[in-house]
Amino acid sequence: MTTRCGVIGYPLTHTRSPELHQAFAAQSGIALDYVVLSVEPEDFERAVAGFFDAGGRGLNVTLPYKANALALAGEAGEMAVRAGAANVLTRLDDGRLRADNVDGVGFLRDLKRLVFDPRGARVCILGAGGAAAGVACALLDADAAEVALLNRHAERAGKLVARLNDPRVHVHVTQTAGFDLLVNATSASLTGECPDFPDTLAGPAVLAYDLVYAETPTPFMQLATEHGARVSDGWGMLVEQAAESFRLWHGLRADTDPLLSNR
Ligand code: ATR
Repeated sequence: MTTRCGVIGYPLTHTRSPELHQAFAAQSGIALDYVVLSVEPEDFERAVAGFFDAGGRGLNVTLPYKANALALAGEAGEMAVRAGAANVLTRLDDGRLRADNVDGVGFLRDLKRLVFDPRGARVCILGAGGAAAGVACALLDADAAEVALLNRHAERAGKLVARLNDPRVHVHVTQTAGFDLLVNATSASLTGECPDFPDTLAGPAVLAYDLVYAETPTPFMQLATEHGARVSDGWGMLVEQAAESFRLWHGLRADTDPLLSNR
Protein backbone atom coordinates (compact mmCIF):
# COMPACT_ATOMS: atom_id res chain seq x y z
CA MET A 1 0.00 0.00 0.00
CA THR A 2 1.29 3.45 -0.88
CA THR A 3 1.32 6.07 1.88
CA ARG A 4 0.65 9.64 0.87
CA CYS A 5 2.53 12.50 2.51
CA GLY A 6 3.62 15.92 1.33
CA VAL A 7 4.71 19.46 1.96
CA ILE A 8 2.57 22.59 1.84
CA GLY A 9 3.75 26.20 1.58
CA TYR A 10 3.81 29.20 -0.72
CA PRO A 11 5.63 29.76 -2.91
CA LEU A 12 7.24 26.31 -2.97
CA THR A 13 9.58 26.47 -5.90
CA HIS A 14 12.62 24.42 -5.00
CA THR A 15 11.79 22.24 -2.01
CA ARG A 16 14.07 19.27 -1.35
CA SER A 17 11.64 17.60 1.06
CA PRO A 18 10.37 15.06 -1.54
CA GLU A 19 13.90 13.80 -2.15
CA LEU A 20 14.60 13.46 1.59
CA HIS A 21 11.39 11.59 2.34
CA GLN A 22 11.80 9.32 -0.67
CA ALA A 23 15.33 8.48 0.48
CA PHE A 24 14.06 7.58 3.97
CA ALA A 25 11.20 5.56 2.47
CA ALA A 26 13.66 3.62 0.32
CA GLN A 27 15.73 2.80 3.43
CA SER A 28 12.64 1.33 5.09
CA GLY A 29 10.98 -0.30 2.08
CA ILE A 30 7.95 1.99 2.34
CA ALA A 31 6.03 2.88 -0.81
CA LEU A 32 5.60 6.64 -0.51
CA ASP A 33 3.83 9.21 -2.61
CA TYR A 34 5.15 12.62 -1.47
CA VAL A 35 3.39 15.58 -3.03
CA VAL A 36 4.29 19.28 -3.20
CA LEU A 37 1.35 21.59 -2.50
CA SER A 38 2.21 25.18 -3.39
CA VAL A 39 -1.06 26.89 -2.50
CA GLU A 40 -2.02 30.52 -2.11
CA PRO A 41 -3.29 31.69 1.29
CA GLU A 42 -6.98 31.69 0.37
CA ASP A 43 -6.68 28.00 -0.62
CA PHE A 44 -4.67 26.78 2.38
CA GLU A 45 -7.47 25.33 4.51
CA ARG A 46 -9.22 23.75 1.55
CA ALA A 47 -5.99 22.17 0.32
CA VAL A 48 -5.20 20.69 3.75
CA ALA A 49 -8.72 19.31 4.15
CA GLY A 50 -8.68 17.88 0.62
CA PHE A 51 -5.31 16.20 1.20
CA PHE A 52 -6.36 14.48 4.43
CA ASP A 53 -9.89 13.65 3.26
CA ALA A 54 -8.29 11.80 0.35
CA GLY A 55 -6.36 9.60 2.80
CA GLY A 56 -3.13 11.58 3.24
CA ARG A 57 -1.04 10.61 6.30
CA GLY A 58 0.99 13.71 6.97
CA LEU A 59 2.05 17.13 5.74
CA ASN A 60 5.18 19.13 6.34
CA VAL A 61 4.23 22.76 6.68
CA THR A 62 6.50 25.57 5.68
CA LEU A 63 6.38 29.31 5.12
CA PRO A 64 4.00 31.10 5.54
CA TYR A 65 1.59 28.59 7.10
CA LYS A 66 3.17 27.41 10.35
CA ALA A 67 0.76 29.38 12.57
CA ASN A 68 -2.24 28.47 10.37
CA ALA A 69 -1.33 24.79 10.66
CA LEU A 70 -1.46 24.95 14.45
CA ALA A 71 -4.84 26.72 14.33
CA LEU A 72 -6.30 23.96 12.14
CA ALA A 73 -5.30 21.05 14.36
CA GLY A 74 -7.51 19.33 16.93
CA GLU A 75 -4.49 18.25 18.98
CA ALA A 76 -1.02 19.76 19.30
CA GLY A 77 2.34 18.75 20.69
CA GLU A 78 3.91 20.80 23.47
CA MET A 79 6.56 22.41 21.25
CA ALA A 80 3.96 23.56 18.72
CA VAL A 81 1.84 25.11 21.47
CA ARG A 82 4.80 26.89 23.05
CA ALA A 83 6.10 28.14 19.72
CA GLY A 84 2.64 29.06 18.44
CA ALA A 85 3.62 27.39 15.17
CA ALA A 86 3.68 23.89 13.68
CA ASN A 87 5.65 22.41 10.83
CA VAL A 88 4.07 18.94 10.82
CA LEU A 89 0.43 17.90 10.49
CA THR A 90 -0.47 14.26 11.07
CA ARG A 91 -3.82 12.58 10.61
CA LEU A 92 -4.75 10.70 13.79
CA ASP A 93 -6.66 7.42 13.76
CA ASP A 94 -9.82 9.20 14.89
CA GLY A 95 -9.59 11.51 11.87
CA ARG A 96 -8.48 14.62 13.77
CA LEU A 97 -5.30 16.46 12.84
CA ARG A 98 -2.33 16.72 15.17
CA ALA A 99 0.17 19.58 14.90
CA ASP A 100 3.81 19.26 15.91
CA ASN A 101 6.84 21.49 15.73
CA VAL A 102 10.00 19.50 15.01
CA ASP A 103 12.12 22.44 13.82
CA GLY A 104 13.73 22.65 17.24
CA VAL A 105 14.60 18.95 17.39
CA GLY A 106 16.14 19.19 13.93
CA PHE A 107 18.10 22.28 14.88
CA LEU A 108 19.51 20.76 18.09
CA ARG A 109 20.56 17.58 16.29
CA ASP A 110 22.40 19.66 13.75
CA LEU A 111 24.14 21.71 16.45
CA LYS A 112 25.34 18.43 17.93
CA ARG A 113 26.70 17.39 14.54
CA LEU A 114 28.49 20.75 14.35
CA VAL A 115 29.92 20.07 17.81
CA PHE A 116 28.26 23.16 19.26
CA ASP A 117 27.06 22.69 22.84
CA PRO A 118 23.99 24.86 23.53
CA ARG A 119 24.32 24.47 27.30
CA GLY A 120 25.19 27.86 28.75
CA ALA A 121 25.30 29.43 25.29
CA ARG A 122 24.44 33.07 24.69
CA VAL A 123 22.31 33.20 21.59
CA CYS A 124 21.03 35.98 19.37
CA ILE A 125 18.16 35.05 17.04
CA LEU A 126 17.33 37.26 14.07
CA GLY A 127 13.58 37.14 13.36
CA ALA A 128 10.48 36.58 15.46
CA GLY A 129 8.25 34.32 13.36
CA GLY A 130 7.46 30.65 13.69
CA ALA A 131 10.98 29.49 12.86
CA ALA A 132 12.49 31.78 15.50
CA ALA A 133 9.95 30.57 18.06
CA GLY A 134 10.65 26.88 17.45
CA VAL A 135 14.40 27.32 17.65
CA ALA A 136 14.17 29.54 20.75
CA CYS A 137 12.08 26.92 22.61
CA ALA A 138 14.56 24.19 21.73
CA LEU A 139 17.53 26.27 22.88
CA LEU A 140 15.83 27.08 26.19
CA ASP A 141 15.11 23.39 26.74
CA ALA A 142 18.77 22.68 25.97
CA ASP A 143 19.82 25.06 28.79
CA ALA A 144 21.00 28.04 26.75
CA ALA A 145 21.97 30.86 29.13
CA GLU A 146 20.47 33.71 27.11
CA VAL A 147 18.30 34.18 24.03
CA ALA A 148 18.13 37.69 22.55
CA LEU A 149 15.57 38.30 19.80
CA LEU A 150 16.36 40.88 17.13
CA ASN A 151 13.57 41.52 14.64
CA ARG A 152 12.98 44.10 11.91
CA HIS A 153 9.74 45.02 13.66
CA ALA A 154 10.74 45.12 17.33
CA GLU A 155 7.18 44.86 18.64
CA ARG A 156 6.89 41.37 17.13
CA ALA A 157 10.05 40.35 19.01
CA GLY A 158 8.42 41.72 22.16
CA LYS A 159 5.37 39.56 21.58
CA LEU A 160 7.51 36.46 21.19
CA VAL A 161 9.41 37.30 24.39
CA ALA A 162 6.05 37.50 26.18
CA ARG A 163 4.89 34.20 24.69
CA LEU A 164 8.09 32.36 25.65
CA ASN A 165 7.81 33.72 29.19
CA ASP A 166 11.31 32.80 30.33
CA PRO A 167 13.70 35.12 32.17
CA ARG A 168 16.53 34.11 29.83
CA VAL A 169 14.73 35.60 26.80
CA HIS A 170 14.72 39.31 25.95
CA VAL A 171 14.44 41.67 23.03
CA HIS A 172 17.90 42.49 21.70
CA VAL A 173 18.61 46.15 22.35
CA THR A 174 22.18 47.36 22.13
CA GLN A 175 24.49 44.45 22.85
CA THR A 176 26.85 44.09 19.87
CA ALA A 177 29.11 41.24 20.95
CA GLY A 178 29.47 38.41 23.41
CA PHE A 179 27.17 35.89 21.73
CA ASP A 180 28.24 32.33 20.95
CA LEU A 181 25.52 31.61 18.40
CA LEU A 182 23.83 33.89 15.88
CA VAL A 183 20.81 32.33 14.18
CA ASN A 184 19.21 33.78 11.08
CA ALA A 185 15.59 32.75 11.57
CA THR A 186 14.24 35.38 9.18
CA SER A 187 12.99 34.44 5.75
CA ALA A 188 15.27 37.09 4.17
CA SER A 189 17.60 34.50 2.58
CA LEU A 190 14.70 33.15 0.52
CA THR A 191 14.62 36.42 -1.39
CA GLY A 192 18.38 36.86 -1.53
CA GLU A 193 18.36 39.50 1.22
CA CYS A 194 20.26 39.84 4.47
CA PRO A 195 18.55 40.98 7.67
CA ASP A 196 20.05 44.08 9.28
CA PHE A 197 22.18 43.34 12.32
CA PRO A 198 25.30 44.82 13.94
CA ASP A 199 28.26 43.21 12.12
CA THR A 200 30.04 42.62 15.40
CA LEU A 201 27.45 39.99 16.34
CA ALA A 202 29.21 37.71 13.87
CA GLY A 203 32.74 37.73 15.28
CA PRO A 204 35.36 34.95 15.18
CA ALA A 205 34.09 33.10 18.26
CA VAL A 206 30.56 32.85 16.85
CA LEU A 207 28.69 30.10 15.04
CA ALA A 208 26.43 31.87 12.52
CA TYR A 209 23.64 29.55 11.44
CA ASP A 210 21.14 30.28 8.67
CA LEU A 211 17.99 28.19 9.06
CA VAL A 212 17.54 28.38 5.30
CA TYR A 213 19.52 25.90 3.24
CA ALA A 214 21.04 27.08 0.01
CA GLU A 215 23.02 25.77 -2.94
CA THR A 216 25.38 28.71 -2.50
CA PRO A 217 26.10 30.66 0.71
CA THR A 218 23.31 33.09 1.60
CA PRO A 219 24.07 36.84 1.97
CA PHE A 220 23.86 36.29 5.76
CA MET A 221 26.45 33.52 5.58
CA GLN A 222 28.70 35.61 3.34
CA LEU A 223 28.57 38.58 5.71
CA ALA A 224 29.19 36.39 8.75
CA THR A 225 32.15 34.73 7.02
CA GLU A 226 33.62 38.15 6.24
CA HIS A 227 33.51 38.95 9.94
CA GLY A 228 35.28 35.76 10.88
CA ALA A 229 32.37 33.63 12.13
CA ARG A 230 32.04 29.91 11.54
CA VAL A 231 28.96 29.49 9.35
CA SER A 232 26.42 26.81 8.56
CA ASP A 233 23.32 26.75 6.46
CA GLY A 234 20.17 24.84 7.40
CA TRP A 235 20.72 21.67 5.39
CA GLY A 236 21.41 19.55 8.46
CA MET A 237 18.34 20.92 10.20
CA LEU A 238 16.19 20.28 7.14
CA VAL A 239 17.38 16.68 6.97
CA GLU A 240 16.88 16.10 10.71
CA GLN A 241 13.42 17.66 10.88
CA ALA A 242 12.42 15.57 7.85
CA ALA A 243 13.62 12.45 9.68
CA GLU A 244 11.58 13.43 12.74
CA SER A 245 8.47 13.98 10.58
CA PHE A 246 9.11 10.59 9.00
CA ARG A 247 9.22 9.02 12.47
CA LEU A 248 5.92 10.65 13.45
CA TRP A 249 4.17 9.40 10.30
CA HIS A 250 5.71 5.96 9.83
CA GLY A 251 7.00 5.08 13.30
CA LEU A 252 10.49 4.44 11.96
CA ARG A 253 13.79 6.16 12.58
CA ALA A 254 15.55 7.18 9.37
CA ASP A 255 19.32 7.11 8.87
CA THR A 256 20.25 10.73 8.13
CA ASP A 257 24.01 10.20 7.68
CA PRO A 258 23.94 9.43 3.94
CA LEU A 259 21.98 12.63 3.27
CA LEU A 260 24.06 14.78 5.58
CA SER A 261 27.31 13.75 3.97
CA ASN A 262 26.06 13.84 0.40
CA ARG A 263 23.89 16.85 -0.36
P1 ATR B 1 8.53 31.74 9.77
O1 ATR B 1 7.32 31.07 10.27
O2 ATR B 1 9.34 30.88 8.86
O3 ATR B 1 9.36 32.32 10.86
P2 ATR B 1 7.29 34.29 9.31
O4 ATR B 1 6.40 34.05 10.49
O5 ATR B 1 6.71 34.85 8.05
O6 ATR B 1 8.01 32.96 8.87
O7 ATR B 1 8.48 35.21 9.83
C1 ATR B 1 9.45 35.69 8.96
C2 ATR B 1 10.48 36.46 9.77
O8 ATR B 1 11.48 36.95 8.86
C3 ATR B 1 9.94 37.67 10.49
O9 ATR B 1 10.65 37.83 11.69
C4 ATR B 1 10.25 38.82 9.51
O10 ATR B 1 10.40 40.07 10.11
P3 ATR B 1 9.11 41.01 10.44
O11 ATR B 1 8.39 40.34 11.56
O12 ATR B 1 9.74 42.29 10.83
O13 ATR B 1 8.32 41.07 9.18
C5 ATR B 1 11.59 38.36 9.00
N1 ATR B 1 11.99 38.89 7.70
C6 ATR B 1 11.52 38.56 6.49
N2 ATR B 1 12.17 39.22 5.50
C7 ATR B 1 13.11 39.99 6.12
C8 ATR B 1 14.12 40.90 5.67
N3 ATR B 1 14.29 41.15 4.37
N4 ATR B 1 14.91 41.49 6.59
C9 ATR B 1 14.74 41.23 7.91
N5 ATR B 1 13.80 40.39 8.41
C10 ATR B 1 13.00 39.78 7.53
